[in-house]
Amino acid sequence: MANSDFAIVILAAGKGTRLKSAVAKVLHRAGGRSLVEHVVRACVPVKPREIVAVVGHQADDVSAVVTPLGVETVVQEPQRGTGHAMLVARRAISSRAKFAILLPGDAPLIRTETLSALVRAHREAGAAATILSAEIENPAGYGRILRQDDGSVAAIVEDSALTGEQRAICEINSSIYCFTLEKLWPCLATLKPQNVHKELYLTDAIAVLRQRAEKVQAVLATDPEEVLGCNTRADLAAVDAVFRRRKRAAVMDAGVTIELPETVLIDPEVTVGADTRIEPGVQLLGKTRIGAGCTIRTGSVLSDAVLEDNVLVKPYSMVIASHLSRDSQTGPFAHLRDGARLEEKARVGNFVEVKKSVLGEGVKSMHLTYLGDAHIGSGTNIGAGTITCNYDGVNKNPTTIGKRVFIGSDTALVAPVRVGDGAYVGAGSVITKNVPADALGLARGQQVNKLGWAAARRRELSSAAKPKKSRARTKSRRRAKPRRSKRKR
Ligand code: UD1
Ligand code: MG
Repeated sequence: MANSDFAIVILAAGKGTRLKSAVAKVLHRAGGRSLVEHVVRACVPVKPREIVAVVGHQADDVSAVVTPLGVETVVQEPQRGTGHAMLVARRAISSRAKFAILLPGDAPLIRTETLSALVRAHREAGAAATILSAEIENPAGYGRILRQDDGSVAAIVEDSALTGEQRAICEINSSIYCFTLEKLWPCLATLKPQNVHKELYLTDAIAVLRQRAEKVQAVLATDPEEVLGCNTRADLAAVDAVFRRRKRAAVMDAGVTIELPETVLIDPEVTVGADTRIEPGVQLLGKTRIGAGCTIRTGSVLSDAVLEDNVLVKPYSMVIASHLSRDSQTGPFAHLRDGARLEEKARVGNFVEVKKSVLGEGVKSMHLTYLGDAHIGSGTNIGAGTITCNYDGVNKNPTTIGKRVFIGSDTALVAPVRVGDGAYVGAGSVITKNVPADALGLARGQQVNKLGWAAARRRELSSAAKPKKSRARTKSRRRAKPRRSKRKR
């Protein structure tokens, strides 16, 4: 059920100057998603009456990410600071909302439970503002919580305005707050752009609330990592590392072995079954689903792949938008893409590319092959170096190979073409016509053996390589040699 008395506001209008990027900050990615998408996903289960995102820089692109997740957007143009952004958000917040959680679009590690706890703490204290703070080892860049001698919050001081003494404060402002709106709005109206950036800082509203003797509290985040913001590329890398570690931990908790986990990258929507083993340097991306008892060997990249149980992916294989049925094997150095499907016990070996093709049960294609737009029946063997010539320069054409077929090495199958059940194709064939079931298809030049030809050719070449002049010189040298040796004696 939605909590009808509070809204959530996500500030996502800023450019992100410190990233030095053409892409708006909140669209940068960490842990397999854009920053703002992480934030929205953490907010939705809190069930507020509405989620409003303040957009501005690349507003359309940011809206395209958040709108499908049920977020309303409001445009801040120009962007005159976090305080100004909240004033702009007011337009979209229902008058029935008493409270608002406010959070930045660049702090993506925040969890739903922490937001719910923040609202609870705010309600229980009857506060005007509740700040989520955190104690972190390196607070540089963050606004700091200034407390009075009695421990109550006096103000938030931005990093750029800190005195030397204040710089030692390790309690930072996460920029995640809960406000009682009727107390906040009048304070926002008094804000002045008294800072180097000439912006209206939301953080200044805290001191104003205090001056008005309103209750302001700061609650420490139990996990300081949760509030990390992304202002720089280094921040993005640090946050990405946390997401990746969390995901690996969840996968290992589900009964999966990961060797050298810090080298393995797993996107948030990936699922992996128990007793699967993942070797170092593996990437599992997109909506990849892996069954139980599989082995994904080193250096392999799987994206939007589906693996049933007991599948073996040997080193350095790419499996992209493809399906591997149980007990199938692929690699090393294989490339399966765009709708490749291996049925049970099918095997694809090294330097084999399979595109939009089905390899039936037990099919083997072990070496140096391209199979594109092909349908291959069960029990068929595809020889080394086989190529389906599926593209005629305009269209992609299908190759259909029946069951228990033997395709000899170095066969080119010029599509569209069919090879019937039980047929053989001789090695080195260029197959341009259908091969009927149980037939032998042979399409290569006739071999001719000319006896003694090579030896005769060698003789001819060696006599051609010795010009007459040089032969004369050699003869005279040979004759001269014994005479010189006689003189020596
Ligand atoms: C802000 C806080 C700082 C806190 C830190 C935590 C202020 C003035 N400072 O600093 O105390 O420690 O977050 O990460 O609030 N935005 C808008 N419109 C604007 C300006 C910003 O929507 O006009 C958005 C940005 O897109 C961003 C968020 O507000 O998502 C915060 O802005 P940012 O510039 O990252 O503030 P910080 O310098 O990190
Ligand atoms: Mg920031």
